[in-house]
Amino acid sequence: MAQQVKAVIARAKGAPVEVTTIVVPDPGPGEAVVRIQACGVCHTDLHYREGGINDEFPFLLGHEAAGIVESVGAGVTEVEPGDFVVLNWRAVCGQCRSCKRGRPQYCFNTHNAKQKMTLLDGTELSPALGIGAFAEKTLVAAGQCTKVDPAAEPAVAGLLGCGVMAGIGAAINTGNVGRGDSVAVIGCGGVGGAAVLGSRLAGAAKIIAVDIDDRKLATAQKLGATHTVNSRTTDPVEAIRELTDGNGADVVVEAVGRPETYQQAFYARDLAGTVVLVGVPTPEMKLELPLLDVFGRGGALKSSWYGDCLPSRDFPMLIDLYLQGRLDLGAFVTETIELDAVEQAFTRMHEGDVLRSVVVL
Ligand SMILES: NC(=O)c1ccc[n+]([C@@H]2O[C@H](COP(=O)([O-])OP(=O)(O)OC[C@H]3O[C@@H](n4cnc5c(N)ncnc54)[C@H](O)[C@@H]3O)[C@@H](O)[C@H]2O)c1
Ligand SMILES: [Zn+2]
Ligand SMILES: [Zn+2]
Repeated sequence: MAQQVKAVIARAKGAPVEVTTIVVPDPGPGEAVVRIQACGVCHTDLHYREGGINDEFPFLLGHEAAGIVESVGAGVTEVEPGDFVVLNWRAVCGQCRSCKRGRPQYCFNTHNAKQKMTLLDGTELSPALGIGAFAEKTLVAAGQCTKVDPAAEPAVAGLLGCGVMAGIGAAINTGNVGRGDSVAVIGCGGVGGAAVLGSRLAGAAKIIAVDIDDRKLATAQKLGATHTVNSRTTDPVEAIRELTDGNGADVVVEAVGRPETYQQAFYARDLAGTVVLVGVPTPEMKLELPLLDVFGRGGALKSSWYGDCLPSRDFPMLIDLYLQGRLDLGAFVTETIELDAVEQAFTRMHEGDVLRSVVVL
């Protein structure tokens, strides 16, 4: 029997989000219905609401979530009812050319639930990132459910489902930060803050946090930044070079998604160093760099989708480190809110007041 549950949808471009009743079908083959316990508010949800991702309104928002598997469809073996899971947007196929080469973290054919959730009148919903978890329950592909230790608090665990994983992974997977490295992180919101935390986890010796907001720099310090630079008042490239014996950092993570901050990252890295772009640019943005500098400085210019994570490998490991007190994932939960406060949370996010507001159900 399909179920009716409360959920937050974006009905039209730019209109405030609203709480409404949606219909969640029973899970079909390869699918699972998950009772959501917590879901973080991410910038991408706001992008959907503003029509910045695509025009497939109405959207069922929310995608940084943890919950309990309620029911599974035919053929599902990886999870069962009662499992505590973090939802991911990288359910790998095992068949594409990347999976076949043993690189499932770059899977080119990830999948979501086949059936659609709908409004009461039958209008099909587009779930954000194939998840849609500002809802009491949601329907996903079973591969989108990653089991983790149920001792973890849902509000904290769910954040691994997107931004926090993207930031940690940008440092430890894409940037390959290692013991003794110098790292600079430009933009220290939820994603950049997580890159700071990931760099500390990986044993970086120097972690330089750059932001235009002193509140974000203060949090970055708590997460492990050894130095901070306010780039509104100080040239970040010069500052990073000064802090690294005039050389630049081994790895620079760009977590804003703008050409000017990318250029800062490019010139703030040491020769043969690595730039990791984890911030998401908009379609009209262009980057101009002297090609000779791209060549002459050597090293690697990489982008990081979802922190190049493999959920089945990375989520349980990071949750275990958190439960052992070795990774402060709790620091990202600025506030917990109710389902009907997502619109206000967007405003607070826009003003830079929070790392993450998390809806708790
Ligand atoms: N690659 C991925 O898979 C992935 C996943 C989630 C989010 N993201 C992207 O990461 C970026 C950051 O997301 P977030 O949730 O941390 O957002 P956020 O708004 O919490 O953080 C952005 C930070 O950048 C700072 N900032 C803005 N302009 C700056 C500038 N010119 N110089 C230095 N700092 C500046 C802000 O003060 C803020 O602290 C976004 O572009 C988001 O879309 C990427
Ligand atoms: Zn694949
Ligand atoms: Zn997100």
